[in-house]
Amino acid sequence: MEQLEAEKQIQSMEEDPVAFIEVFLGRELSEKQKFFIRSTKHHKHLVAIWSRQTGKSTVIASYILWRLLYGKGQIINKEWMPEHIAIVAPIKDQIKNLYEKIQVLVNKSEFIASFITKMNTEVIKCKNSNEAKFLSASPGSQIRGYTATLIVIDESQDITDSKYNADILPFGATTNALVIEAGTPKTKNHFYQATQSKSILTIKQPWFECPFLSKEYVMGQKSLSPEALWRQEYLCEFMEEGVLAFPSILFEPEIKNGQRLWVCVKKGLLLWQV
Ligand SMILES: Nc1ncnc2c1ncn2[C@@H]1O[C@H](COP(=O)(O)OP(=O)(O)OP(=O)(O)O)[C@@H](O)[C@H]1O
Ligand SMILES: [Mg+2]
Repeated sequence: MEQLEAEKQIQSMEEDPVAFIEVFLGRELSEKQKFFIRSTKHHKHLVAIWSRQTGKSTVIASYILWRLLYGKGQIINKEWMPEHIAIVAPIKDQIKNLYEKIQVLVNKSEFIASFITKMNTEVIKCKNSNEAKFLSASPGSQIRGYTATLIVIDESQDITDSKYNADILPFGATTNALVIEAGTPKTKNHFYQATQSKSILTIKQPWFECPFLSKEYVMGQKSLSPEALWRQEYLCEFMEEGVLAFPSILFEPEIKNGQRLWVCVKKGLLLWQV
């Protein structure tokens, strides 16, 4: 009986991801989180530039689950393709963070859990054939080749420009996939460029617009951290390249034999090793 009720309730939320998250998953969303989710209906590319700890990964994880359950896929070259969601983050730990957030939501309902046929930190598969694939875009990774109907990028600012442009965005080349990016400003790399594009919707959220962030904590950070870093992390301001030791316009991180190397983009010179 409970199963039947859950099934009816879940069907009624087909058109409304916000209701699904708030009513079915029991998670109250902030106004910015609601706006972000609702904007997915009318835009092909969204960028959330939000202060630290303001619910970026949470809203992304919730939307992914809704799309896994309700997404209808699309017709590509006269063939139906179920949802193929590429979930991308700069390193494996961030992938794990997103995976755990999705897992918490799945565990909230037996009905949702029964709908999932496979779930691990590489892939989630559902009974309706929809799937989500977790991809770590660390500099040495090989992630080319996936075709996606939805591309979700968390902590986008930490992905190198070459990974972003040459590996990740082409996942949506045949599908014209919706792209969702979230992050906090860093340097004037692709994440900054996206905010300058007229065809991309940028949704900004400095710390004071978030209802659940502690003012005391943020002010404490202000007195402890360098001013430029605090403004970047909590006011979402992009720093001028001159403030940084390794501006991304000149250097890109590269992982070799487990070590992070800083390489000069233009000349290919190894400059620093940590
Ligand atoms: N709508 C909400 N209401 C209350 N708490 C929330 C809401 N959304 C997220 N949170 C909580 O706020 C905290 C930060 O959330 P989350 O990790 O999603 O933020 P983030 O912006 O991704 O953080 P980071 O900048 O560290 O990546 C978590 O404890 C999460 O449970
Ligand atoms: Mg996060």
